[in-house]
Amino acid sequence: MIRSVIRGTGSALPKDCVSNDELAARVDTSDEWIRERTGITQRYIAGEGETTGTLATAAARAALDDAGLTIADIDLIVLATATPDNTFPATATQVQSRLGGAGFPAFDVAAVCSGFLYALTTADAMLRTGMAKRAIVIGAETFSRILDWEDRTTCVLFGDGAGAMVIEAQDVTEDGPGIIASRLHAEGEHCEMLYVDGGPSTTGTVGHVRMKGREVFRHAVVNLAGVLGEVLAEAGCEASDIDWVVPHQANLRILDATARKLGLPMERVVVTVDQHANTSAASVPLAFDVAKKDGRIQPGDLVMLEAMGGGFTWGASLLRV
Ligand code: ACO
Repeated sequence: MIRSVIRGTGSALPKDCVSNDELAARVDTSDEWIRERTGITQRYIAGEGETTGTLATAAARAALDDAGLTIADIDLIVLATATPDNTFPATATQVQSRLGGAGFPAFDVAAVCSGFLYALTTADAMLRTGMAKRAIVIGAETFSRILDWEDRTTCVLFGDGAGAMVIEAQDVTEDGPGIIASRLHAEGEHCEMLYVDGGPSTTGTVGHVRMKGREVFRHAVVNLAGVLGEVLAEAGCEASDIDWVVPHQANLRILDATARKLGLPMERVVVTVDQHANTSAASVPLAFDVAKKDGRIQPGDLVMLEAMGGGFTWGASLLRV
């Protein structure tokens, strides 16, 4: 059977790391409040010259190096972001050009924090139907540029960064590597719970992130438990078969509650929210890359990716490394 197999991963972070204490010097908050409510201790914030596009390009280059491939081997780029460099063209086209590629399709996907799951599932479908052979799938964000730094209920939660995967269509056996099952969902009726209050067609401004934190929390735990169950059922697997869960890194308490619902110990959940905060579409590939490079995720491991974000949108993907 044809499956999309991960050939390489990469990630990139801005140079500037901002601790909770440093943030508390600028915003009415404290290290204690942020740690207790979210598990976050620091975040990386893009500085001058650092954009979603530059971070995405660095992550993609690292993923190509990890795969032992060059841009000449790639025939698709799908990039998930809610903070593109420009309203258009798609940041994916800029990444293509910066990597020295041309001709093949490159486009952005907007599903906020679940963006990487949407991008990966789209690229996987294109690979399995023969529309492409090898894709770079990227999640990249500079959320710091759409935060209201006067709003302490949101600005302490997010960070900037990028993560990328190179995936390749391969003919594998049933128990071989690759993406086994994926599910995506959206429910637009909840848009006012997490959104940006601007845009080119409404206010003509970029706008700022607005969120009803408690409502988001409640929906996240329920929706994620639901989609994880669907993916496991489609794959014919049990939660206990999973070696690692790589969740969207929104908040340690959401990760904990979701693991509990699945009956999985936190030792099998990759946690990077403490180091990176919530990097939206970048968080899943960034966390995956960290766990692969530090040796936690090993070839043959069964890994569940999952995310939930504004829209609401949510999804999950089960794969064997
Ligand atoms: N520092 C200090 N105090 C704060 C801060 C802050 N940064 N932010 C809020 N407070 C205060 C509030 O003003 C309030 O004070 P009051 O009781 O005097 O009115 C108090 O803390 C409690 O505020 P709540 O908003 O009720 O705090 P809560 O316990 O719900 O925690 C949080 C807030 C962390 C946002 C929580 O609701 C949450 O984790 N929600 C999930 C949202 C999330 O993770 N979103 C990420 C994007 S979505 C996604 O990626 C899935």
